[in-house]
Amino acid sequence: MKKILTGLKPTGELTLGNYIGAIKQMQKLQDQYESYLFVADLHALTVPQDPNELRRRIKDFLALYIACGIDPKKNMIYLQSENEYIPAISWLLECSTYYGEASRMIQFKEKSKQHKNFSVGLLTYPVLMAADILYADIDFVPVGIDQKQHVELARDIAIRFNKVYGDTFVIPEPLISEVGIKIKDLKDPSKKMSKSEENPNGVIALLDDEKSIRKKIMGATTDSEMNVHFDEVNKPGISNLMNIYSALSNKTIEEIEKEFEGQNYGTFKKKIADIVVETLIPIQERYHELLNSDELDLILDEGITKSKEIAKNKYIEMKKKMGLER
Ligand code: TYM
Repeated sequence: MKKILTGLKPTGELTLGNYIGAIKQMQKLQDQYESYLFVADLHALTVPQDPNELRRRIKDFLALYIACGIDPKKNMIYLQSENEYIPAISWLLECSTYYGEASRMIQFKEKSKQHKNFSVGLLTYPVLMAADILYADIDFVPVGIDQKQHVELARDIAIRFNKVYGDTFVIPEPLISEVGIKIKDLKDPSKKMSKSEENPNGVIALLDDEKSIRKKIMGATTDSEMNVHFDEVNKPGISNLMNIYSALSNKTIEEIEKEFEGQNYGTFKKKIADIVVETLIPIQERYHELLNSDELDLILDEGITKSKEIAKNKYIEMKKKMGLER
């Protein structure tokens, strides 16, 4: 069976963008692949974090994954920081990564511009991501388009390592779903709906209550036409809402255009608000149930035991090949 793996960084609050871009994809794929899913908590440290907030979010994220339909029986679920072999593997890979490659990453360029002082971790983080993927011989990595470049870097590093030290890693491929590729901010559809966005009106958090979900969708930026038609360049707001509706209803864009032919934006938005609420309310109920039981700890204990076993074997293999032995 082929293997897939994906991770989410516990920063900000989980949004509808993460649900559609990553979690929902994993949920569909969990029946066809051997699946690994982890909370990328080490990745959160690239920017300063409040320890108590981080601790709370790690639990929140896990409970939300599972509440969203990630089945612990079909997925190996774990916390990245509990597997100490992964940063060790990352170091070995860092020494096979060029500075030029790492500093060309779009996310690094953007994020480093935003701060006067930023950590070295912001630069090396894609290598840690490569370690996350490569240690487990993963075939496919379901991610949103913003992470595609990082998965490609993982491929390049793996190919280089294999060439120098002999066959060690499976070469992974990014898996980008066609719908929901990039869910945009509802207020400013030129940028992605982001967990770390400061203006919450454009972002639907998975734990938002019904009233604010409806308010945010009804207040989404559209255009001056009255035509539910998909055109990401000229009608980014409407196209974004169509992507959301398509991902949650499993209807195609063409079907949606037909469904709303001749209808005004108000009717269209109300329908989207309905489906978002119908999707999120049961998820929130299951989330609260999970946080109040010991189910999460049991799932994590099982996941980390398996993950460590796999990573340890890969680490030993790498060290040997690189000459790190007595
Ligand atoms: P992160 O935590 O920023 O995002 C998690 C996943 O959600 C996707 N995503 C989106 N997809 C569609 N629309 C959006 N608005 C949107 N926002 C986020 C992201 O593409 C991603 O798939 N470095 C990664 C975490 C990570 C990882 C890994 C992923 C660490 N190691 C190994 C895969 C494999 C990150 O920061 O994602």
